[in-house]
Amino acid sequence: MKKKISKIKNSKGKKKLVCLTAYSKPIAKILDKFCDIILVGDSVATAFYGMNSTRELSVDTLLNHAKSVKRGVKKSLLVIDMPHNSYRNFKEAKKNAKNFLKKTKCDAVKIESNGKNFKIIEKLVKSKIPVMGHIGYTPQFKKRFKIQGSSLKEEKKLTYEASRIEKAGAFSIVLECISSKVAMKITNLVRVPTIGIGSSKNCDGQILVTDDLIGLSGFYPKFVKKYLDLQKHLSRAIKNFTKDVKSNTFPTKSNTY
Ligand code: KIV
Repeated sequence: MKKKISKIKNSKGKKKLVCLTAYSKPIAKILDKFCDIILVGDSVATAFYGMNSTRELSVDTLLNHAKSVKRGVKKSLLVIDMPHNSYRNFKEAKKNAKNFLKKTKCDAVKIESNGKNFKIIEKLVKSKIPVMGHIGYTPQFKKRFKIQGSSLKEEKKLTYEASRIEKAGAFSIVLECISSKVAMKITNLVRVPTIGIGSSKNCDGQILVTDDLIGLSGFYPKFVKKYLDLQKHLSRAIKNFTKDVKSNTFPTKSNTY
């Protein structure tokens, strides 16, 4: 685990990090061939369960997804999101993070910044729990979507948060929906890799929600590139199955015992 974390930290300035989310073993197995980091994101709440917010996700639900994902991962660094209200103080964060890593065998946890929880990160790292930070548009704490870093005040706040999280010992920081200019400032400021989502090329790596990039989630904001229209392909397959069942051409002899 330590080796994997050092590899990620040492990659800064040398190569772009490839990161994606996974919620299940079959997807994780595919991603593991390509990714440096796989995240069991709390986006499972909205992308998979159709909940209105990641705040609705329970700890047990995320744990079950992480266990499934782990079964498909051999080489990538596996990070699990800390769900909302599972890290409100250090005692709670340590108990939950230890439990997550023990039960799921993930390598690290990700914590969304609320602009105040730097000490919690520092103490977790001191307790040998690797932490990935997350700043910018942090859905657990910000109800309304807005690009972050468009005023000088926001820029100062974001650069402050990034440097506090670096000092606290996080091994990387997710920058979510931060303006290109501020993403560049932060990437140049901190010595740990920044992983962008909707935060331009000016990051050390990129992450997307896999269900968005394969065209399954139905959520395609400007920062998502749809590499596949899986909804369309699935519809076609299900339509053909329906046709075969109705016309009694499935199952054939080869599908029959
Ligand atoms: O939950 C998630 O998928 C995330 C990514 C958007 C970074 O936190």
